[in-house]
Amino acid sequence: MQDMTAISRRKHPRHDAWFSELSLGASSWSKLDGAEGDRTALAVTERAWQIGIRYFDTAPYYGSGLCERRLGSGLAWKDTGDYLLSTKVGIDLDPFGQRKPVAHHYPHYAPFTPVCDYSRDGIRRSFETSLHRLGIVSCDIAYMHGLSICDGGIDAALGTGMPALLELRDAGHVRMVGVGANSPAIAMAFLERYDIDVLLFAGGFTLTDHAGAGPVVEECAKRNIGIIAASPFANGAYFAAENTADRQRLQVRCAEYGISDTAAVIQFGLNFPSVLSVLWSTTKPENVDRTVAALNETIPAAFWERLREDGALLF
Ligand SMILES: NC(=O)c1ccc[n+]([C@@H]2O[C@H](COP(=O)([O-])OP(=O)(O)OC[C@H]3O[C@@H](n4cnc5c(N)ncnc54)[C@H](OP(=O)(O)O)[C@@H]3O)[C@@H](O)[C@H]2O)c1
Repeated sequence: MQDMTAISRRKHPRHDAWFSELSLGASSWSKLDGAEGDRTALAVTERAWQIGIRYFDTAPYYGSGLCERRLGSGLAWKDTGDYLLSTKVGIDLDPFGQRKPVAHHYPHYAPFTPVCDYSRDGIRRSFETSLHRLGIVSCDIAYMHGLSICDGGIDAALGTGMPALLELRDAGHVRMVGVGANSPAIAMAFLERYDIDVLLFAGGFTLTDHAGAGPVVEECAKRNIGIIAASPFANGAYFAAENTADRQRLQVRCAEYGISDTAAVIQFGLNFPSVLSVLWSTTKPENVDRTVAALNETIPAAFWERLREDGALLF
């Protein structure tokens, strides 16, 4: 059931699962150092909760367990029936440092070595240890992860990883399974082989970069697969100096319609009925409020039509 908050929810077409239209990812919390970082992550989670965010995403890889622990702490005393939570498998954490590591992409991390592992045992071990870090006994969603980071990851995930993940779903340990895809090609490779519940579309599906995403969105719509439109700001790159020209062009159009460019960027994915939520990340409680304000701006249909005429909205 939906309750009244500042954020609407969308129901998965096949599951009794309600996704807040804006969802919070924990990956950027690895930028936050030490105990002060723990407190900031808690403050971000609490602000997100107060304002109505009810879907949260993390992964073992984010800070080598640090971000799962922080998210688990933030949600610790909430009723698990009141929100949705996803984590990922495919990059496991080795406490003994004896296996071949994948590069740490995160500035602050727990003392575990991230390793690519799409074997049945690896998937099961990774999922189980995620539950421990999160402090829960089952999870709403588990995504296949690391596909563009791990050598041979796509083939291994297609070969042994996905069957192991589906076994976890069949056993009732996870309600829904999916793939974290950083490109339309990766998404398609999995959609062609497996009947997943949710696609975490985390590359090539933003307002300023969605040329190849059309067939993926169409396929998901046809098969009742929910889409999570992740990384709307391209991990912050949208705000970077080298993208100023793109941003300025968009800002000019937005100004004509009296809206902010952040609103257009955040709401882009929600134009598509298959999209359940836009998944973003922040290290600042005040950016939770800013992003929700952008989500709640009213954008006239004429604005999107204008972008289509400009060739900036492709499908
Ligand atoms: N393969 C996969 O499975 C995969 C891949 C990518 C992402 N994801 C998921 O998607 C989540 C989001 O990805 P992302 O971190 O790339 O997201 P993003 O939201 O595109 O980018 C986050 C960046 O935007 C900045 N930001 C956020 N809100 C802002 C605002 N209102 N104004 C100005 N700047 C703002 C943040 O800086 P501040 O901290 O300063 O706010 C941060 O640097 C991840 O946490 C993860 O859960 C999954």
